[in-house]
Amino acid sequence: MTIGIFDSGLGGLTVAKAVMAALPREKIIYFGDTARTPYGNKPPETVAGYALQNAKFLLKKKAQMIVVGCNTASAVSGLALRKEFPSVPIFEVITPAVREALRRTHNGRIGVIGTRTTVQSGAYQKWCRGINARECPLFVPLVEAGRLVHPTTYEVAEQYLAPFQRAQVDTLILGCTHYPWLKGVIADIVGNRVQLVDSAETVAREVQQFITPPASPYLKGRNDQSDSPLKVRGVRGVMSAPKHEFYVSKKTPKFQELAEKWLGMSINLKAARL
Ligand code: DGL
Repeated sequence: MTIGIFDSGLGGLTVAKAVMAALPREKIIYFGDTARTPYGNKPPETVAGYALQNAKFLLKKKAQMIVVGCNTASAVSGLALRKEFPSVPIFEVITPAVREALRRTHNGRIGVIGTRTTVQSGAYQKWCRGINARECPLFVPLVEAGRLVHPTTYEVAEQYLAPFQRAQVDTLILGCTHYPWLKGVIADIVGNRVQLVDSAETVAREVQQFITPPASPYLKGRNDQSDSPLKVRGVRGVMSAPKHEFYVSKKTPKFQELAEKWLGMSINLKAARL
């Protein structure tokens, strides 16, 4: 199945990487809206409009399902997307992350960090009453600038994360797909008593269950997955690895460099016309 994933920029690559690891046979078409990033400080209607355009673009490129690889777009456009494309399977990143946090917390004190638009939309608060939600508006620009392990990033993160430590949160949702890029910094600051829930990994598991539901005893062998990055074994024998496609609304050398580093592969980045 061809999986379309979009985000405002680099963030959705965390989703793409998790989906590639979970489903090495499936082809991914990625779109990063680098010309209009960041989404997180824009009004909900604007982001919802972008999300519809991005999904339309991916479907034109022959995606068979859409993963909204962006919490901000998931928070404000989930319903609009389902209404516009009723026959397309659409996955958002918020509910899988909430479910995982509820499953993992021991003391019931859950936190979430996200963009301003995500936090103000109340999307996390709707599913998890009492969740401690905080905006971290500088994280996305820091990631897009490649300041992943940098003194400024540590300083900003310390300020954003201190309230969670005071509140004795034991589970923190990375409620923006850019934040796994900063997982090392965040983990250093909150310490190992706080479990981090990565919304990219949790949505990847949902997509995996949708595409390869737990094998029925009658179909034994059909859901075999190979973990080889180059060759994958399927029902039809050995096939070559899928040729993923990567598009951005504005090409930048930084995107290419960071994307290749993150995914551990060279990519042929193309400029998209929406
Ligand atoms: N990565 C996105 C998210 O999960 C978008 C961040 C932004 O563009 O502000 O919210």
